Amino acid sequence: MHDIVIQVLGVAGLLMLVSFLPPLAARFQMPYTVLLAGVGVALGAVIQTFAGPTNDPFHDFLNSLAELNISSDVLLHIFLPILLFESALAVDVRRLFDDLWPILLMAVVAVFVCTFAVGYAVSLFTPLGLVACLLLGAIVASTDPAAVISIFRDLGAPRRLTTLVEGESLLNDAAAIALFTLLLEMLTRTSHGGVAAASLDFLRDFIGGVVTGYICGRIVCMLVEPMRNQPMAEITLTVALAYLSYVIAEHYVGSSGVVAVVTSALVVGSVGKTRISPATWGAMEHVWQQLGFWANSLIFLLTAILVPRLMADAGWAEVGLVLVVVAAATAARAVVLFGLLPVLSWAGLAQKVSNSYKTVMLWGGLRGAVSLTLALAVTENFRVPDPVQSFVAVMVTGFVFVTLFVNGTTLRWLIRVLKLDELTPVERAMRNRALALSTDSIRDRVAAVAQTYEVDGAVKDVMISRYEERLKKIDQDSGDEAKLTDEDRVTIGLVILVNREEELYYAHFSEGMVSRAVMELLAGRSGRLLDAVKAQGRNGYRAFEEPFIAVSPWMRGASWLQRRFGIHRPLARRLSMRFEVLVAVRTVLRELLAFTRDRLARVLGQEVAFELEGLLVGRLGIVEQALSALKLQYPDYAVVLQSRYVGRAALRLEQADYRTLYAESIISQEVLTDLERDLEQRRRVLERLPKLDVRFDVADLVRRVPLFADLPAERVTTIATLLRAQLALPGETIVRKGERGDAMFFIASGAVEVLVPNLAEPVKLGTGDFFGEMALLTRQRRNADVRALGYCQLLVLDEKDFRRLVQKDADLRSHIQAVAEARRQPTQSSPAASAVS
Ligand code: CMP
Repeated sequence: MHDIVIQVLGVAGLLMLVSFLPPLAARFQMPYTVLLAGVGVALGAVIQTFAGPTNDPFHDFLNSLAELNISSDVLLHIFLPILLFESALAVDVRRLFDDLWPILLMAVVAVFVCTFAVGYAVSLFTPLGLVACLLLGAIVASTDPAAVISIFRDLGAPRRLTTLVEGESLLNDAAAIALFTLLLEMLTRTSHGGVAAASLDFLRDFIGGVVTGYICGRIVCMLVEPMRNQPMAEITLTVALAYLSYVIAEHYVGSSGVVAVVTSALVVGSVGKTRISPATWGAMEHVWQQLGFWANSLIFLLTAILVPRLMADAGWAEVGLVLVVVAAATAARAVVLFGLLPVLSWAGLAQKVSNSYKTVMLWGGLRGAVSLTLALAVTENFRVPDPVQSFVAVMVTGFVFVTLFVNGTTLRWLIRVLKLDELTPVERAMRNRALALSTDSIRDRVAAVAQTYEVDGAVKDVMISRYEERLKKIDQDSGDEAKLTDEDRVTIGLVILVNREEELYYAHFSEGMVSRAVMELLAGRSGRLLDAVKAQGRNGYRAFEEPFIAVSPWMRGASWLQRRFGIHRPLARRLSMRFEVLVAVRTVLRELLAFTRDRLARVLGQEVAFELEGLLVGRLGIVEQALSALKLQYPDYAVVLQSRYVGRAALRLEQADYRTLYAESIISQEVLTDLERDLEQRRRVLERLPKLDVRFDVADLVRRVPLFADLPAERVTTIATLLRAQLALPGETIVRKGERGDAMFFIASGAVEVLVPNLAEPVKLGTGDFFGEMALLTRQRRNADVRALGYCQLLVLDEKDFRRLVQKDADLRSHIQAVAEARRQPTQSSPAASAVS
């Protein structure tokens, strides 16, 4: 048979076989990879016994597998990038960062500890030399989460445990492969130099990989953006990214390709999520899961097939050595988990990891596809001496199979014994509430459908009663909930609300109502809110909004630039972003209020719903206050933003309409493309943040100050030339006690508070008042702090202009002096101030 036909037959036959395995694994409650490995070995044995020159499809298939020429190069360069990209894409990057230190410890330090422990232990029993043994150590250092995670999912193990295991195995693949490459070079003498040089190489490879992966990932995120509604193109771009980042890092930059693939996938998973439309994201996840499934299955089967042949020469000595590897690798893991991990928590770098988690992580250190592929690479490297080749092959396969068949099949039991699969009362209640919520909404929708199609009353009642019963059953299951405190119930409600909040932001984003930049900000914020609720319940929730709304250091920086150098753009950008965020949050909070009233009240009870509403209203108040402060400041801009909102909605409607027209063959593809191009252009214009004019009309502001209001027009114009407009942000300290005074300030709009040293309450000054005059009059230092209460438009009069002005204008001088005199009375606030406060 033609060579290529043999290959096709082999691979297609394997895929056929693979397709039966997931249902079987589910049927026997067995991790898929364990079954896969078992079937692979069995297949290998069958090939060894039955392959021969007969001409029927079955023997052809066996022969094709025996002759299948899939080298480790193919596995490493074609399957591995896919496998790594897929698992990195599935990781929740934010959670990864929450547990970054323990994960890095397990991923990098544990790899080194395992490599050295296994290397030194095994070298005591074989004459092959330390480097070969260390190479073995590096190969078996990378853990494979697939089997473990599937068990976790089946049993509903805690999320944090999943993140720890997933994060560890993702990053340790990168570390182990980088270390493996280095040791292989040392073994084949393509690299010279001692441990110091090797460590430096390792570090360079690792960092180079991270940088390359990051840049490639960012570029793809940028490219993907203009490809709106082209899911196939977008998904293809991510597949290209997996390979390109690998090849660029490996061959052009000279760093670790694996690290680059993982990094680029993490970038896509975090940044890309907001650039790729939610529908496309879902499709992309499916494509990647499928590709990952193929890659993992084929790597496993292709390597497992070789096992019977490899193990044919293995004797008791090898079995003994495999046990040494098992003991050393387990001991190394135990040292890191029980010895080093607590140090991190002790140093305040990580939340405590419980002993039962650690036990599961120790026992769940399964090895898989990556170790097998690396072992295959060693056996195919002609520079590696033969004895080392077969030593590595036997040890690695032996070890991988022990972890799969011993640990893999007992992990489920261990998790049960440690009771990690049991939900806490709060979690159980949360699950029940979530179920109740969805059943409740399904019942309503079924009722609506029945009404639309005018289904008979009796049929409708039967249908509805089914859901009613289900709801009742959930309520019965919730018997334990009596034990829950009110606080627990509120926390459950808040968790549901925060999750819903994030969903709503995504919904607004996918409808085009929220821009990408704002979405990124809001997504990150929802995550933090969830953590705050989980950690501190309602107090966490309550305390969240205020600091978020508070003016950020960036905003202050932008404001300083505007004030100091007259650079307007950064401030305009910040303010418009703030505007958009506030509008989005306000809209979503209102929707959440309705959701709480209509839905949550039914499943959590009126009282809890009432509490939740209170908390929502509290947040809404803060947001609305901030929003009205901004609106007051920039009324024109508010109008621009509103029209932008409506503009977006209009675009969305137009697009849906065009698509329908096309689907009904009323317009041709060409016309549709034209129309969509036009839409795209308009969308881009809308996406641009509208410019915000923060320059003020000084003359107009001057007129708002009563002191100047009655002056003749030409006087106002002269004064306006002396004054400089300045925007003060909420909470900003405008004047500091003890500083030298070089200007005084008139408040054109807004309010400030003066923290007068001997007064219990700060003195409030509002529109039309002035401050900072005392230092100029007395030539002494500032006698109090003055802080903005909201956004304030100020008019600044510099010292020399002040002197010029009061010299010319006796009335003005005496007025300012009188006010200053009144303020100097220890218990008196100024006459002007009393008008406002
Ligand atoms: P100056 O000393 O330049 O800086 C701090 C300012 O706070 C001061 O000028 C006054 O404008 C203002 N200030 C000080 N004390 C009072 C007060 N009792 N009532 C109102 N404003 C005051």
